Amino acid sequence: MSERIYIFDTTLRDGEQSPGASMNTAEKLRVATQLEKLGVDILEVGFPATSEGDFEAVSAISGKIRNAQIAALARANIPDIDRAWEAIKDAAYPRIHTVIATSDLHLKYKLNMTREEVIQRSVEAVKHAKKFTDNIEFSAEDGSRSDRDYLCKVFEAAIEAGASTINLPDTVGYAVPEEFAELIKYVRVHTPNIHKAIFSVHCHNDLGLATANTLAAIVAGARQAEVTINGIGERAGNASMEEVVMAINTRPNYFPMTTGIKTEYFYPTSRLVSMITGIQVQPNKAIVGANAFAHESGIHQDGVLKNPMTYEIMKPETIGLNTNKMVLGKHSGRHALRAHLNDMGYVLSAEELDKLFIKFKELADRKKHVLDEDLEVLVAEGLLQTKDVFSLEYLNVIAGTTVLPMASVKLIINERSVQGAGYGNGPIDAAFNTISRLTGTTSELMRFSVSSLSGGTDSQGEVTVRLKENGLEAMGRGADPDIITASTKAYINGLNRLEYLKAHPLKISESAIEE
Ligand code: KIV
Ligand code: ZN
Repeated sequence: MSERIYIFDTTLRDGEQSPGASMNTAEKLRVATQLEKLGVDILEVGFPATSEGDFEAVSAISGKIRNAQIAALARANIPDIDRAWEAIKDAAYPRIHTVIATSDLHLKYKLNMTREEVIQRSVEAVKHAKKFTDNIEFSAEDGSRSDRDYLCKVFEAAIEAGASTINLPDTVGYAVPEEFAELIKYVRVHTPNIHKAIFSVHCHNDLGLATANTLAAIVAGARQAEVTINGIGERAGNASMEEVVMAINTRPNYFPMTTGIKTEYFYPTSRLVSMITGIQVQPNKAIVGANAFAHESGIHQDGVLKNPMTYEIMKPETIGLNTNKMVLGKHSGRHALRAHLNDMGYVLSAEELDKLFIKFKELADRKKHVLDEDLEVLVAEGLLQTKDVFSLEYLNVIAGTTVLPMASVKLIINERSVQGAGYGNGPIDAAFNTISRLTGTTSELMRFSVSSLSGGTDSQGEVTVRLKENGLEAMGRGADPDIITASTKAYINGLNRLEYLKAHPLKISESAIEE
């Protein structure tokens, strides 16, 4: 019988630590709902001690998700654990995930603690968490660079204290598959009470080996994989869920294992996460990249037409590609829109539906077919954003081969209307310069990219920007059939996210699990 691998998704915690990827509570709730639909076993949704915003999002998700465990991260100290429990206590299946570093390097330079002190602290943390729940995960940060025998001692003590899952992270993405598998086997053999806990791994992608290391660990006996959608996460990211799960499913002879994931939701989930975070998926990304199922060469195309198995090891439908044919248009009514949104996982109030229906009709007048991708953007722009400081009233641009590009913009800033005009070296530059002046913001444009939301010439242009202001970074996104408007929406969205970050400062850095 095939063994069950538990999928622990950390898109909303480690994934959110990707530069500029911060999400507001409504956006996190939307992603969590989609992950629940995808069949994820455990959702790690935040690190409540880091900020009020994180606490609020974790609590909101805990109150809503009923079919997955909800984990919150806490350093191995009492205030963090109390805060994590406070945030997840209403979850159907809450899990406290506590972490402390175990490598000598971290002990010496970061924690300034001895090995014995770290064991003691781990035990205290797990025992404290045990007052709230039996569902406790203990992580040994920088585990892959820790002394093996010491790691076994720490795990033994944590399990003895009550940890039900122990997690071995390759925090800095340093491991290579064979060596990592050896380490898993070693720890399994040399930790006497290991059978009392689920063995988990958490791999980062600094050397591009996160998926390979995760799979090697599974073959060596790990039964929980910590992953993210699209592989987003700290630095080069985490192991990608779609890669790990599709490898298991595609090679059952090599991996006699199953997961609870409904893979047909991979593509829509990937799209949703990239739209909400503003982090686009590279075209050649395995499984969900735009080219993952595209056959360019004539020989391949010929083979695929004769029999798809010649060059396709997975069917596109298995990941939810090409199945999304349901189209709405300008004749679609309110009921059809509501039913379709319900299928996508959105349950809207009458007021929300009214608001969205107006936007839908406006779009349907400009674009023949309204696809799921378009609806996701409408919902994200209309309902998921927090109360915006800046919103666009109108934009006019003059551009061409013989004129100096100029933009006239009217904005609402905190309910006050302001307008102005300005020049630039192109229409987008002119619009951005004018907006920057009207809003009094000084952000730097770090990245700007344009793509098409779906196929076809009537597709909406999708623009993402990354802005930086006084050390804070935020992504912004916008979509519109007109790419200058899409760019302007993306810029304003980025400015609003910067305002949100200014209003929700971090108490501690999420990326440094320091004491
Ligand atoms: O990379 C890491 O070590 C982590 C831990 C919190 C599991 O993210
Ligand atoms: Zn991590």
